[in-house]
Amino acid sequence: MVKPSVFVTRRWPAAVEAKLAETYDLQLNTGDTPLSPAELRETLGKYDAVLPTVTDRFTAEALDVKSAQTRILGNYGVGYSHICEASARDLGLTVTNTPDVLSECTADIAMTLLLMVARRAGEGERELRAGNWTGWCPTHLIGTKVSGKVLGIIGYGRIGQEMARRAHHGFGMQVVVYNRSPIAPEVLARNNATQVDSIDALLPMCDFVSLHCPGGATNRHLINSRRLDLMKPDAFLINTARGEVIDEWALTQSLMYGLIGGAALDVFDGEPRINPDLMQCDNLVMLPHLGSATKEAREAMGFRVLDNLSDFFAGRDPRDRVI
Ligand code: DGY
Repeated sequence: MVKPSVFVTRRWPAAVEAKLAETYDLQLNTGDTPLSPAELRETLGKYDAVLPTVTDRFTAEALDVKSAQTRILGNYGVGYSHICEASARDLGLTVTNTPDVLSECTADIAMTLLLMVARRAGEGERELRAGNWTGWCPTHLIGTKVSGKVLGIIGYGRIGQEMARRAHHGFGMQVVVYNRSPIAPEVLARNNATQVDSIDALLPMCDFVSLHCPGGATNRHLINSRRLDLMKPDAFLINTARGEVIDEWALTQSLMYGLIGGAALDVFDGEPRINPDLMQCDNLVMLPHLGSATKEAREAMGFRVLDNLSDFFAGRDPRDRVI
C-alpha cells in the first residue's frame, strides 16, 4: 500500500519523527527555519498532509492555491490562529490541533511568570548577573505577596483551569473567571472559582490577571489601554495565550507610567520580533514562548498529531478536528 506523504515544517522530538518515518512517506524541513508563504503554498501541491506549528503563517496568501494535494493540516500546538480558517475551509482542508497534552506545562509557565513578576525575580537575576548586587538589605527588591490574592482568569478552558488549580490549591488564591460561555458549577467548584459576566467587571477585582483565551482576529487587542486602566494600579498582567491579545503599545505606556504593577509575557505580537519599548520596562518579565517546552509535552504533542493523522487516513473523524 502506498504510504501517505507527510511534510513536517519544523524539527520535532526524535521519538516522534522516528514514528512518523515508520508510518508515512516523510519529508522533514531539515533547515528547521520557518517557511515563507510561497514555500508553504508549495507544500500544499506536494504532500497529503502538512504538519505546521505556530511559526508557520498559513495566511490567506499562503493558502491561495486553486486546488491542493494536501487534505489535512495537523497542527503541532493547541492554538491555531496562524491558520486562516476561511481559506482552509475553502480548500476543504481538515485542520487538527493538540489540546490537553500541554495544558499542565503551559499553566506551569503561567504560574512561573506570575511568581517571577510578583517577586521581581527577573530584575534580581539581571542585577546579580550584571555584578551589581551589593548584598542583603531590608529594602532591596521588595515584591508582592502572592498567597491569598485574587487571580482573574480570562478564558477558562483546559489551560485556564490548570492555572486556577495551581493558584487556588497551591497558593490559596481566590479565583475569578471570565469566559465567553457559562462554566458548569461543578467545574468552577473544583477551584472555588467565581464566574463574572464581563472582562470589564473582572479587571478591577484582581491582583493578578492571566490570559488563557484564543488569539486571532476576534481577540486582537482584547487588552487595550481602556482595559489596562480598569486594572488596579498595583496589579500584574500575565500572558501565555497569544501576543496579539494585548495591545503592546498600550501595555508599554501602562508599565512605563506605573499604571499597573507589572506584566509577564511568554508570547508577543509578531514574535520573535520584540517591540523595543518592552525591553525598556523593568517591571516586565519576558520568556521566549516556552509554554509547552518540556520533553514530556512536546513528545505528547507529536504523538497526538500522529493519532489525528491515523484517524484521518483511516477515514475516521480525528478527535482533535478544529476545522
Ligand atoms: C500552543 O500550543 O498554542 C503553543 O503556544 C505552541 O503553539
